[in-house]
Amino acid sequence: VEIDLAATDLELTGHAHYMYKEILEQPERAAAVIRGRLDARFATARLNGLNLSPRELRAFRRVKFLGCGSAYYVGQIGAQLIEDLARIPADAEPASEFRYRNPIIEPDTLYVVVSQSGETADTAFAVQEIKRKGGTVIGAVNVVGSTIAREVDGGIYLHAGPEIAVASTKALTNMAMAFGMFALHLGRLHDLSYADGERISNALKAIPEQIQEILDSEPAIAAIAQRVAKAENAFFIGRVRQYPVAREGAQKLKEISYVHAEAYPTSELKHGPLALIDPAMLTVAVVPDDELASRNIAAVEQVRARGGEVVAITHEAVEFGTMAIERIVVPKTEPELDPILLIIPTQLLAYHAALVLGHDVDKPRNLAKSVTVE
Ligand code: AGP
Repeated sequence: VEIDLAATDLELTGHAHYMYKEILEQPERAAAVIRGRLDARFATARLNGLNLSPRELRAFRRVKFLGCGSAYYVGQIGAQLIEDLARIPADAEPASEFRYRNPIIEPDTLYVVVSQSGETADTAFAVQEIKRKGGTVIGAVNVVGSTIAREVDGGIYLHAGPEIAVASTKALTNMAMAFGMFALHLGRLHDLSYADGERISNALKAIPEQIQEILDSEPAIAAIAQRVAKAENAFFIGRVRQYPVAREGAQKLKEISYVHAEAYPTSELKHGPLALIDPAMLTVAVVPDDELASRNIAAVEQVRARGGEVVAITHEAVEFGTMAIERIVVPKTEPELDPILLIIPTQLLAYHAALVLGHDVDKPRNLAKSVTVE
């Protein structure tokens, strides 16, 4: 095992907070996770650490992602990528729930545990439980040589570099990048065409630069964060691929700014939460330029009609007409990969809101970087 630490990795290098430094590192770290792993000849990804032959991989009929907190939300992104690109049923579950419910371990299910630290007790226990029952489990882990990395049957290292801030950013981005490659790999073992493989592979390569574009718009996002900091309650809404984006956005805001934030699938608004919309409720709506855009715009309209304020994280091509909302525009990638970029502004929103409120960004109250207790 190689641990590749630069001298500056553990230092603030002039930044006010580790979280901020880690947000800014993302273009470079996202490039590191794909480096040497995209195979142009066969339009696939080469993931040597999986320790599974093509035949073994093909035999799995289901993929299950397990992680805690934000790692679980990114697991949801992973599951959708697998269903999209490999057309294998996939889902995600909190490892903390899985371990307590006598889960059925099936031999034709591939378990993927997701952890930045590789030390989260609930996730580590899930690994042991799967292995004890004869299942196959691989890891998407950042810390090399950590407990989970040592116990899994194989895996993908995230190469995000040391993450110090309690609120995870760059590790989550690299988890999603890793799942993009994993889904591409699995897809190409099944029915994903060469052309579609190339489409995803090229899009993955462009992501580091696109993240930089978003980071360059920080002043505009920081201005919107002033408003977010004033909110007592916020909804984050997103549909299908963007529901995990909403969940992660709400998570980041509550972790460091202590603003009460909850995520809902956009489609669920009218089934209950809409009752809470009034001028005091802020809604952050994730509205990508995809086949669901008009439905998402209609939901934003409903929120506006009830006097709710809206911040939309969206693409240039999405038109909101004359609606009075704040827009944060991110670059477009392939629809399957949109969540990776749509998450980035939520990090800066949370960071700047926490700064305005004067909170300890790197060490939020009541939280630990890795939860090694039951
Ligand atoms: C992320 O901002 C949180 N601090 C938290 O949800 C975290 O992702 C979770 O505890 C899992 O940690 P891990 O990735 O180290 O296993």
